[in-house]
Amino acid sequence: MPRVIDPNVQFDGEMSVRYDAFVPKLIPDYVRLHELLVAQLGLALDEGARILVVGAGTCTEALTLADFDPTWTFVAVEPSAPMVDVARERVAAAGLSDRVSFHVGTLDTLEDQGSFDAATAILMMHFIPVDQKAAAFENIAKRLKANAPLVMAHPIGDPQSDEHTLAMQAWRDHLDETLKDKAETVYTNVSDTLHFMSDNAQTDALKGVGFDQVVRFHTRMVFGAWIAMKG
Ligand SMILES: C[S@@+](CC[C@H](N)C(=O)[O-])C[C@H]1O[C@@H](n2cnc3c(N)ncnc32)[C@H](O)[C@@H]1O
Repeated sequence: MPRVIDPNVQFDGEMSVRYDAFVPKLIPDYVRLHELLVAQLGLALDEGARILVVGAGTCTEALTLADFDPTWTFVAVEPSAPMVDVARERVAAAGLSDRVSFHVGTLDTLEDQGSFDAATAILMMHFIPVDQKAAAFENIAKRLKANAPLVMAHPIGDPQSDEHTLAMQAWRDHLDETLKDKAETVYTNVSDTLHFMSDNAQTDALKGVGFDQVVRFHTRMVFGAWIAMKG
C-alpha cells in the first residue's frame, strides 16, 4: 500500500524553497501542463471568473492563470504552511495579493465561499487514498456552479497492468536524465506516495458525483490531465 503523506512533512520548509526548481525535473511536461491548463480554462471561462485552486503548492497555476486573464480571482487551498509561505511571496512579488486568497488546510476545512466558476487540482489527487477519491471529487463538485470545469493532472493507471509498468519504467528512465545520481532515491520516495486509480475508475467516480464530459487532454508516461464539466 502506498504511504499517506502529511503535507507539512512531505512539503516541509526545505522542500518548499527548492520546490519550484525541483518539480520540472520530477514531472515530465510540468511547464506544458500549466500552459494546457490555461488553454482549457481560457476556452471555458468568461471575465471575472472565480477559480478554486486545490493543492496549490507554491501557486504556479494561479500565477499562470492570473497572467492570462487579469480579471480572474483565486482561492488557493493548500495544507502545507511552508508551501503557502512561498506561494504568498510569489503572489506578492507578482502584484497579485488582491486577486489570490489563501486557505491553509485541506478542502474539507474550507468554509463555504459561494459557487466557483472553475476548479483545478494539479498534481495533488494522487495523494488521496483510492477509497477517499470519490469524496474528494464530491467536495470539489459541490463548490462549483453548473457547467463549471474541473481541470486535474496527476499520475494515473492500474498498477496491475503491463501498460502501467511500462509507463512507470519510462518515468524512471526520464528521472535518470533529469536527476542523475539522485534518480533512484527520489523515484523510490515519490512512487511510495502515489495512490493509483485506473482512468476508467476515475471517470466513474467523477460521474458518480455529478461531473460529465470527462475528457483526457494530455498523456505523458504515467501522467495524465483531464477536464471534467459539472453537470
Ligand atoms: C506536487 S505539489 C503540486 C503543487 C501545485 N499544484 C503545482 O502544480 O506545482 C502537491 C501539493 O498538494 C498538496 N496536498 C497534499 N495533500 C493534499 C490534500 N489532501 N488536499 C490539498 N492539497 C494537498 C501538497 O501539500 C502540495 O503542496
